[in-house]
Amino acid sequence: MKKRIHMPLLHKFIIASMILLLSLSAVSSVISSNNPCAQCHRSNTETCSLDPTNSQSNLPSTIQIQSSSIKMAVRINGDRNNYFYRIAKLQVTLYSMQGNIDIKNPQQTVTDCYPGDTHVFLWQVTGVTLGSDTFHFILSAFNSHQNVDFSDSYSYPIVVSQGNGSSGSQTAVEPSASTIRFHENGETITLFINQPIENLEINPPRGITVQPDIVPLAQPGDEIKLMFTSASTTNIQGTATISWLENNNPREITLPVEYSTTPQQPIDYYSLIGRITAISLLCLLIVSMIVGGASKRINTLIKKRITTKQKNELHCLLSWIFFELALFHGAILLIGPYRDFIWNTNVILGYVTATGFFVVAVNGRFMTTIIHLIGADLWRTIHKYVSWGTLFIAVTHAVLIGTEFALIRGVLNI
Ligand code: HEC
Repeated sequence: MKKRIHMPLLHKFIIASMILLLSLSAVSSVISSNNPCAQCHRSNTETCSLDPTNSQSNLPSTIQIQSSSIKMAVRINGDRNNYFYRIAKLQVTLYSMQGNIDIKNPQQTVTDCYPGDTHVFLWQVTGVTLGSDTFHFILSAFNSHQNVDFSDSYSYPIVVSQGNGSSGSQTAVEPSASTIRFHENGETITLFINQPIENLEINPPRGITVQPDIVPLAQPGDEIKLMFTSASTTNIQGTATISWLENNNPREITLPVEYSTTPQQPIDYYSLIGRITAISLLCLLIVSMIVGGASKRINTLIKKRITTKQKNELHCLLSWIFFELALFHGAILLIGPYRDFIWNTNVILGYVTATGFFVVAVNGRFMTTIIHLIGADLWRTIHKYVSWGTLFIAVTHAVLIGTEFALIRGVLNI
């Protein structure tokens, strides 16, 4: 008759894995440099800045009255390279402060950049008035994870001089970037046309398509937009050849092309286990509360099969497993994705939940003693109302922060 329900292996397993994972947590936590991620994270770093000293930047101190090109490199750095580091949009604008220089397409934009990328922006500029001026570059970019903004600026003095009168080395076709670097979403560059040309043909490397790839005629002042895309699942590096006829003479330039597949978000096992435990917790809580007598009807059914003592033992066991799993759930998420958010309001609701259930658990574990002290009625009232109250907080916590409830948050717009 007296069949005790033994603490199963699962019980010990949960405690053992908790200790193991908590000791693993000693990792990470690098003090970060000045970066916009630091307002929320201690260990995730990303920067996006103008790089005037980069060898690919070309910032002459004098330009001739004829047009020249200005190149500015932008460098993105980060400690890792995944989905969270995606710079959705990167924009650099060039200003001539005194207005002595005319800038074609002052504002240039690229999309989808990741740490490790260097983007070189190219502007076609023409001196309008002789004299000195200042070039001012403004960078603005944003990472779509939490809408993190980056900004940077750089200025330097420039002189517009008469020059030797010859239009010099200016090529008939000037591309707006010196390297075409892109990911799955493709990339558009502009070809500035400085001389009348014919039969412009663009030959990208294998696996890459360009639109358009043939332009029969173009006039000075024309701007031809080329869209590079690829459906390849592997990275491609090569050169695009751009050829044309200029006064019936064949000319060509080549541009390096680098296509790399979008960095994938790695599976975050901490998040995954956190989510699985969250769902298990919810189920376990419902079962435990039902066994404990939350539903009168089911309670009568259970009582027909097992003794009250067995029922209470089962309720007690399920509740302790619930409590340990809840601590495990919290621990794994706090050393995982929420390690920098331990004082986030929704995370705090999790601590409140744990405290609430701890009260319920202690009240249950020492039932006999407590009943002796305060009486059965009060004991039951406390046990019942603290359970339901905590359940309410637990559900609020889940709805506000749980990945599985993102849809509800979306619908409710919270
Ligand atoms: C406004 C606060 C905030 C800012 C700013 C922020 N993050 Fe996060 N980040 C979060 C939150 C909240 C999570 C956890 C939830 C999630 O997965 O979205 C997170 C999760 C992450 C994760 C996955 C978990 C991990 O740490 O491995 C990465 C990686 C990450 N952020 C990188 C960045 C980078 C890089 C920046 C700067 C460009 C940044 N974050 C800026 C709030 C922020």
